[in-house]
Amino acid sequence: MKRPILILIIILILIAAGAFFFTKSGYSQKVMGEIKARGLMEYTTGEAVEMTLNKCSQCHSVEQIKKYCDRCGPPFVVVVHNMAKHAIPMWRAKYPKSKISDITDSQAVAIVQVWNGTIGNWEKGWKREDMERMLEGNQALLKLLHTPTENRKIEKAISKEEVSPAEKYQREMLNMK
Ligand code: HEC
Repeated sequence: MKRPILILIIILILIAAGAFFFTKSGYSQKVMGEIKARGLMEYTTGEAVEMTLNKCSQCHSVEQIKKYCDRCGPPFVVVVHNMAKHAIPMWRAKYPKSKISDITDSQAVAIVQVWNGTIGNWEKGWKREDMERMLEGNQALLKLLHTPTENRKIEKAISKEEVSPAEKYQREMLNMK
């Protein structure tokens, strides 16, 4: 065999091995998580549910969120904005040792849809201007607010129960409905 061909084959084997270990290790998941958090790729419904439960259970229980209702306060789009922009900095100031992870704009957009689809969406019962004011210029959530619910992929999928058996099981386990 000619030398260049041999070298080429070795390089290909190394690339294949690298790709194999990249996908097998948790590292690829971390990279994908980062890509989705930055909004470069969209969350699937299952990923959005998992990410939501991780983010929203950092300071209080998910049970508490499940009790939230249309008589309790503003819709989730406002609640999630408040948690991301106010509760997290406040919490960090109060408990400097706590390790609270940030909620990026893309994550907030997915999280709002998860709770809207699971608990309910009462944006229609609120004045548009009031919600806009409460979003304090949060462009990502303002954009979501102006997106009709039928065009919100995650919200639509969850509220219509268009979830895969694995996701259904995951949600039943968490007793989300
Ligand atoms: C940094 C900590 C922290 C995180 C993370 C957090 N919350 Fe909160 N949350 C609070 C605090 C503090 C309150 C107000 C005090 C309370 O009710 O415990 C609160 C209250 C709430 C309430 C009750 C609000 C009301 O007006 O009754 C809801 C609903 C809620 N959070 C939902 C969420 C959701 C959804 C998420 C995920 C995006 C989330 N929280 C993430 C700290 C947090």
